[in-house]
Amino acid sequence: MSTVFLNGEFLPSDQARVSVMDRGFLFGDGVYEVIPAYGGHLFRLLPHLQRLTDSLRAVRIPDPYTETQWSGILEELIGENPGTDQSVYLQVTRGVMDRRDHAFPLGLEPTVFAMSNPIPDPDPALAERGIAAISLDDIRWQSCHIKAITLLPNVLLRQQAVEAGAAEAILIRDGHATEGAASNLFIVRDGTLITPPKGPLLLPGITRDLVIELAAGHGVPHRENAIGEAELRTADEVWLTSSTKEIMPVTTLDGRPVGDGRPGPLYRRMHGLYREYKQAVREGRAG
Ligand code: PDD
Repeated sequence: MSTVFLNGEFLPSDQARVSVMDRGFLFGDGVYEVIPAYGGHLFRLLPHLQRLTDSLRAVRIPDPYTETQWSGILEELIGENPGTDQSVYLQVTRGVMDRRDHAFPLGLEPTVFAMSNPIPDPDPALAERGIAAISLDDIRWQSCHIKAITLLPNVLLRQQAVEAGAAEAILIRDGHATEGAASNLFIVRDGTLITPPKGPLLLPGITRDLVIELAAGHGVPHRENAIGEAELRTADEVWLTSSTKEIMPVTTLDGRPVGDGRPGPLYRRMHGLYREYKQAVREGRAG
């Protein structure tokens, strides 16, 4: 039985209870984070906590803890569930009301929940064969930079991809590719790595930032630029990134090969740099 954190207490997951009147349950009124831990070390903790603060502020939920308190809670949670690499999920909802009302009173006490689950080792076949993706209309709202628990569009889009035999959906809005259903998008054209700039139409991914940082630190040409649908379809390489899936090379898009249909040379380079970075986190040499 894994140990979870709920409203100030660590307890076995089967004993954790939340009210049915919680606004997270009734409205999806809350925000979340997913933070990997390698060898017991949280990966990019401060940027994750900064994004949590930004999400909370955007939806007007008071941050229940300071940065130091958050770090303490998450480190204790990892210590409670030792062993493999882990992914910490945390969510903060607006709290519990005595009746259902879209409008909320200020000053509710937020509900805070966190759990930690093992991350399976990345499948070596992924780096060899890559994944299939399909493109779908981005049916989400205009505030995709907020990491809201309200994920019904993302759930339906991912499901549609899976039912089409693909691993992920790449989302298209007004002729531009924004990101994946639960991942950020990169393409490679003529040796340059391109990713859409941050803004309200995509999540500012922590993995995305690290990939840009690694590119900058190792002389990989890169730029942040909108990606038109035609550019996506004729890219030499397409990658999707997320904390739990790291860098995924997309080798077929809508059933057609991307480039030569195999993970490309820039992917292999970045995959190596990413693995080195992860090892540094594991050994406590990087955060
Ligand atoms: N999702 N875009 C969306 C819509 C996402 O849901 C995610 C991550 C990302 C990548 O962000 P990061 O690199 O910070 O993980 C981009 C998480 C993993 C999830 O919902 O489980």
